[in-house]
Amino acid sequence: MKHQYLLELGGENTELGKIEALELLSTENYEPKLVLKESSIITIEVSNIIKPRIIRRLGMTKRISKIFHEDKETNLEKIVKKISFLDIGQKTFAIRQICNKVMSEKKIAHILGEKIPKYNKTNLDNPEIKVLYYTGTKTIISIWDRKLETYYKKCLKYHIKNRPFFSPISIHPRIARSMINLANCSINDTIIDPFCGTGGMLIEASDMKIDSIGIDIMEKMVDYSIGNLKHFGLKSKVLEGDVAEIINCKFKAIVTDPPYGISTTTKGEGVDKLMKRCMNIFSENMKQGDRLVMALSKPELIENQNYKKIYQFQWYIHKSLTRYILVMERN
Ligand SMILES: C[S@@+](CC[C@H](N)C(=O)[O-])C[C@H]1O[C@@H](n2cnc3c(N)ncnc32)[C@H](O)[C@@H]1O
Repeated sequence: MKHQYLLELGGENTELGKIEALELLSTENYEPKLVLKESSIITIEVSNIIKPRIIRRLGMTKRISKIFHEDKETNLEKIVKKISFLDIGQKTFAIRQICNKVMSEKKIAHILGEKIPKYNKTNLDNPEIKVLYYTGTKTIISIWDRKLETYYKKCLKYHIKNRPFFSPISIHPRIARSMINLANCSINDTIIDPFCGTGGMLIEASDMKIDSIGIDIMEKMVDYSIGNLKHFGLKSKVLEGDVAEIINCKFKAIVTDPPYGISTTTKGEGVDKLMKRCMNIFSENMKQGDRLVMALSKPELIENQNYKKIYQFQWYIHKSLTRYILVMERN
């Protein structure tokens, strides 16, 4: 049986949010199909009900809800005549309009409320269920409940301002999480970050129960990673050494944010030279089809015929810094 979900994506980069969700669900064997993409929402069809453990891996989806009804009709009164009662157990609920505001929420609640049994109480501040109403090229009525909690807001608990050890180079938790979700890894797989800095990737991997190994050339950074992981009660192996240390490690994917020349140190090696060297080391230690996910400011520095580029996303940081996220596969 097929199931349909509506995903409201974070405004930072909706393309990255869409691909993060599709890639993660495909890694976890839900056979996802994109049905609709409109402004900041997507709808998808999957082969099974998505487990809460998988939903909480999503870093770039603000909210996910299960589609109850969709219609080409835009007149809500006509739609309501066609749909059955909404069975939400004994739970409290609120009715909300998302994205395009086409009529007052009060009016929507009045019309849609007819389809909710009288014994269900409304709770506008902290409902157990939200009945979401979307109108675009289609009208969608979708049900969110508390089990469907993504990590869009929650991963901010690992934000650099909440870490005991931080540095301006630390990667944003949402980017780190989405990068790991693009690496084709499930629970018990291992990712490696050979430029781990303060441990941003390791924190997100461990939170998602994915094993991880971090390497950094600077002793201070290794201590920072270990200190941050310990602070949040998370676990990872962290080694001090050069990127070449990966030859002694077993992993399924590389997810990393190498030095890009601003406030980071490479112990004297030029970034161009380091990037060429690391791309060769990586390819010698990856199997065909393994993924390499990198955040970069100059994607041209890593051109290498041993990899096939699968995706490239652009992430605007500030006026003088745009970062690119590249997803590659070993040929
Ligand atoms: C951009 S930072 C990584 C930031 C990290 N993602 C975080 O969340 O803090 C790059 C890191 O690469 C490390 N590094 C530089 N050259 C290296 C090398 N040859 N081998 C391993 N690590 C190196 C630097 O010490 C720095 O911590």
